[in-house]
Amino acid sequence: MTPAVDAALPPAVPADAALGATLDAIPFACAAYSPVDGALRVANRRFLDAFAALPGHDRRDRLLAALDVAATDDGREARAPHSGHWYALHWRPLPLGDATLDLLTAVDISERMQALDSHKHRQDKLLFTSRLMSVGEMAATLAHELNQPLAAIVNYLNGSLRLVGQAGGPVQVERALLAARTQAEHAAAVIARVREFVRAREPRRDAQEMAAIADTVLELLRLEAERQQLRIDLALARDLPAVHADRVMVEQVLLNLVKNGIEAMREVPAAQRELRIEGRVNLDGEVEVRVLDRGGGLSAAQSEQLFSPFFTTKADGLGIGLAICRSIIEYHEGRLFFEPRPGGGSAFCFTLPRAHGRA
Ligand SMILES: Nc1ncnc2c1ncn2[C@@H]1O[C@H](COP(=O)(O)OP(=O)(O)OP(=O)(O)O)[C@@H](O)[C@H]1O
Ligand SMILES: [Mg+2]
Repeated sequence: MTPAVDAALPPAVPADAALGATLDAIPFACAAYSPVDGALRVANRRFLDAFAALPGHDRRDRLLAALDVAATDDGREARAPHSGHWYALHWRPLPLGDATLDLLTAVDISERMQALDSHKHRQDKLLFTSRLMSVGEMAATLAHELNQPLAAIVNYLNGSLRLVGQAGGPVQVERALLAARTQAEHAAAVIARVREFVRAREPRRDAQEMAAIADTVLELLRLEAERQQLRIDLALARDLPAVHADRVMVEQVLLNLVKNGIEAMREVPAAQRELRIEGRVNLDGEVEVRVLDRGGGLSAAQSEQLFSPFFTTKADGLGIGLAICRSIIEYHEGRLFFEPRPGGGSAFCFTLPRAHGRA
């Protein structure tokens, strides 16, 4: 018996001791099984570290049954369910004295599997973005096609309302016509927003200063902020690097987030209405912009649905602002997320890659 072999193994023959010492020198998990009964004869320390906790590791067939094995062209890849590690398994005959043992080598390939996984994740994300872009094109066509009939419907409804008004009733018909017009106008508003998003132009990404983007947005919202007696603080880090982005798209994101912040503070006392836009470089080296408000914040249930299209809690909301923002930011390989703001209110944050070092 070699020191590397666990006590549950059958009694060793002298040749096994020499083999055990040899296997211990190999830099990955190795074990030799008997071809006759499939019992484990010798294993190195690495093998025991990796598999001893797995019931049945001392029988060839039970070990294989315990692993999640995926057959590949040049052997087998298997995941050990107790550790989550992935191994490449290879079986080779190993002549030992008069007998031949089955030698199993198990190379830990967890890192490679992880790299593959994240690669696949990136690919999925790219696919998602391109799907989103084609959905965008389809939406633009649909919006164009639907706009005319919708405008006609609203016109007909207005005409009918006039006629009913002149005839002095019936009041149920008038109510139904008004309800129909509200719905048609809502549909037209959704379409207008989608068209605004997918304006027929290719996104163009180059080096952009967040300060310039924020200035444009604040200028657009100045009147609304004044009307609501609301302060907007712009606090971008002094040396904030340029981002690699499509300027109009990022303006659209910031505009939507600031508008949501303003709308969230409609009900709070004027003295507390404070909106803040922060910008800094985060630990990953990306530019991170945070839009902070002192509104009512969000419940856990609401924060789960936030980014779903058409989720809204506002009587006049369409519920597509955040869904559009997220697809724009993901197109830019960034992230858009929500956090509760310490001291009350919400923080909506997005990241963008820096322009430096990019084409
Ligand atoms: N800053 C915020 N504070 C609190 N709730 C927010 C905030 N931003 C978004 N929300 C919640 O998320 C919902 C969805 O926001 P989103 O911008 O997608 O749609 P909306 O503002 O309702 O309509 P619109 O499509 O016109 O923007 C809002 O209705 C609101 O409930
Ligand atoms: Mg909104």
